[in-house]
Parts: sequence; C-alpha cells; structure tokens
Amino acid sequence: MKSIVILISGRGSNMEAIVRAALPGVRIAAVISNRPDAAGLNFAAAHGIACAVVDHKQFGERAAFDAALAEAIDAHRPDLVVLAGFMRVLTDDFVRHYAGRLINIHPSLLPAFPGLHTHRRALEAGVRVHGATVHFVTPTLDCGPIVVQAVVPVQPGDDEASLAARVLDHEHRIYPQAVRWFAEGRLALGADGRVQVSGESPAPSGWTVPPLEC
Ligand code: GRF
Repeated sequence: MKSIVILISGRGSNMEAIVRAALPGVRIAAVISNRPDAAGLNFAAAHGIACAVVDHKQFGERAAFDAALAEAIDAHRPDLVVLAGFMRVLTDDFVRHYAGRLINIHPSLLPAFPGLHTHRRALEAGVRVHGATVHFVTPTLDCGPIVVQAVVPVQPGDDEASLAARVLDHEHRIYPQAVRWFAEGRLALGADGRVQVSGESPAPSGWTVPPLEC
C-alpha cells in the first residue's frame, strides 16, 4: 500500500479525480491546503480524508512556510506527494527533500508554456495542439522529468474557457493514471533524467491529433 499526500490551493478537481479513481494499493493519507478557504477541503473532509491547512500568510518567509508544510506532510510518512493546483513556488530545499516522490500537473504540453495563463498563451501563440503534463518536480519551475502528457487539439472557435475545460477533462484522466503507475512501481527515472514507464500502453487517452491530408 502506497501512502500519498495531496496538496491543493483551491477548487481541487484534480485531487477529486484521484480520490474518485479509488486506485488499488493507494491510500490518501491527507489533503493539505495553503489556503483555509480552498473549496477542495470540503470534498476531502466529506470523503473521510484527513485535512490540514498550512496558511502561507502566517509565515514571513518562504523557507519558514516550506518547513512547516514539510512537517505537516511528513507526519503522514507519504511515499508520494501530489501537487494538485498547489499555487505556491517551493524552495529548492523543499523540492530536494522530496526528490523522486513529488509530482505536479501543469496545464500545457511542457516544455511549452511553463508558468501561469497557459491556455491564453497557447491561443495567442496559435498552437494547433495544447494539453497537460504530469511531471516530477525539480527546483526549476514546471521543468522536471515528464511522466505523462495528454494532447488536446485546439478547435477553431476556442476561447480560454473552452480550451481550459477540455484540458482539465484530460488532466482528470492522466493524473490518476500517473499515481497508479507510481503505486504499481512502474515509474523509473533514468540516468538521462527521463521517466520510463514499464508496460505503458502506446496510445493513452487524449493522444489524438488531426489526421494528415497528404
Ligand atoms: C489545474 O489546471 C492544474 O493543472 C493547475 O491548476 C489547476 C488546478 O485545478 N496546476 P484544480 O484545483 O485541480 O481543480
């Protein structure tokens, strides 16, 4: 049984998708938020999951917040820490402490569009395909080894909201998938810094792009 702690800051729909997936061999030890008003806390509490708040506003320095956060996380002795819409930049020390057991989901096809407002930037850039990425977290923001990606074609009438909604739908599929792979011991981080997934199906959901016409 693998124990996981999920960190949220708001809505928590990715956390919800992982909880609802009821993954075999996965125990969700706790959901921790840096914001007391995070809506996702209600869902987690209603599902009998231990909840905690480590309010970043109570800490003067980033390092002090990260130390308190790590203490709250480590009380649950997790095998994996899952960032699910956790909107705080983490210190290098924190990231190193969880090396190889800290993952994040980002709403773009990394390395394109790290940072915020990814859907707007994707539309402005005129990309034909957009998507989402689950990756191991390293000190550089939105830059760690990629575990899984979902490709979402951009449609002609798309605006930020419609594109975000389709990407989010795919996030809710690939994040539980990544946690499942971790729990099954199928993720390996190679010396080249790339993730290998043993027995990965060659065509995961979402890998659709418009067919070539010639
Ligand atoms: C998601 O789009 C996630 O990729 C990004 O923040 C959003 C969080 O949504 N990091 P939710 O809180 O999981 O609903």
